[in-house]
Amino acid sequence: MDITVNKIKSLNGEIEIPADKSITHRAFMFSALTKGKVKVSNYSKGADCMSTLKIIQELGCKVELLNEKEVLIDASNALKAPSSALDCGNSGTTTRLMMGILAGQNFDTQMIGDQSLSKRPMKRVIAPLEEMGAKFIHTDYKLPLEVNGNSLNGIIYNSPLASAQVKSCLLLAGLNANGETTFIEPYKSRNHTELMFEYMGADIKIDGNKVTIKKSQLKPVDITVCGDISSAAFFMVAALIVPNSDIIIKNVGINETRSGIIDVLKAMNGNIDILNERIISNEKVADIRVRHSDLKGTTIQGEIIPRLIDEIPIIAVAATQAEGTTIIKDAQDLRNKEADRITAVKVELQKLGASIEETSDGLIINGKTELIGDAEIECYHDHRIAMSAYVAGLICKKPIKINEFQWVDISFPEFLDLISNLSIS
Ligand code: S3P
Repeated sequence: MDITVNKIKSLNGEIEIPADKSITHRAFMFSALTKGKVKVSNYSKGADCMSTLKIIQELGCKVELLNEKEVLIDASNALKAPSSALDCGNSGTTTRLMMGILAGQNFDTQMIGDQSLSKRPMKRVIAPLEEMGAKFIHTDYKLPLEVNGNSLNGIIYNSPLASAQVKSCLLLAGLNANGETTFIEPYKSRNHTELMFEYMGADIKIDGNKVTIKKSQLKPVDITVCGDISSAAFFMVAALIVPNSDIIIKNVGINETRSGIIDVLKAMNGNIDILNERIISNEKVADIRVRHSDLKGTTIQGEIIPRLIDEIPIIAVAATQAEGTTIIKDAQDLRNKEADRITAVKVELQKLGASIEETSDGLIINGKTELIGDAEIECYHDHRIAMSAYVAGLICKKPIKINEFQWVDISFPEFLDLISNLSIS
């Protein structure tokens, strides 16, 4: 689906942001390990999470859609060997977390994925899982691959990467491994696995950037998923850069390991208020008010990177409207996402008129520049590139065309409806 985006006058009103993708994946997968029944409320309907839901069905879970917002997962007969290859679609989280679950089973599994996922590196999880005793058949550490279920032993793993996917994979393997499994990371990555494990009664100990898990049985407790801050980020930046905007985004997860976007936008002089803070299923949630602001450039590097890794494309859009230079460093893993997000952001924003350069591990953006538009944008099979381009299009002087905008459905099928509801043209 190719779309055209036109300049708008402002964004005004309130929206409820759809469910968090990372938390939904975990809610589905962890429910599948409970041997009981779990109701998951307000789950993400994005294609990535649907890949996970289908996979747990193939592994023996009964899945009943109770209504628009709730799904009941019955894991009484799970996990059992699937009858065909598990299709992870476009989803790195599905692949890497499922590998941690499947490695310790007493059956073998084939895993496949789409073109983009089949290019993504899996050594980061295969290598430590092999240290635990896991067995794989693969070519160059990529999908398609086979997981040969085996008995696992706990290890202490000093991860070179601050990656929640690697951490969660090893913690899931550790749930089913002999002894203790310890994961240490250089900076703290998102901790939804740790929080949900605690919520479901796992034997887990957290000490700064070090997490230790002992073999445990997760308990079937109902889970409500909060809204996705990574989805909210597109609306936050849109309201900051479109003149006269004032919006409230409701039900956003503001877990500290994810809220780097708020810290950065505030440091850029963004007018952002956090309202009505509360806890839902062990996660911090709030409503966020955002008003148009005169932004200034900033430097983003080091420890904050894992706290906003998925938001860098949309932060780059904000930076084009900020006075001065914005420097983004230490983000080399962006090249291993659904697309090479460093090059994709540079190429596509340059087409719109931004002053932006790429470095090996980030971007340098000079602002403030008027975005001209009048260009044809590619999405690179990447939902976050698609939505970042859309938000940039809202302030371009001339309309832009975005090709294959359907990639947005990977995480946020409701995006177009929600942004149109707030837009005043
Ligand atoms: C995710 C972790 C991040 C993030 C991805 C989702 C997760 O990846 O980019 O979109 O749900 O654990 P890494 O952990 O590989 O950085």
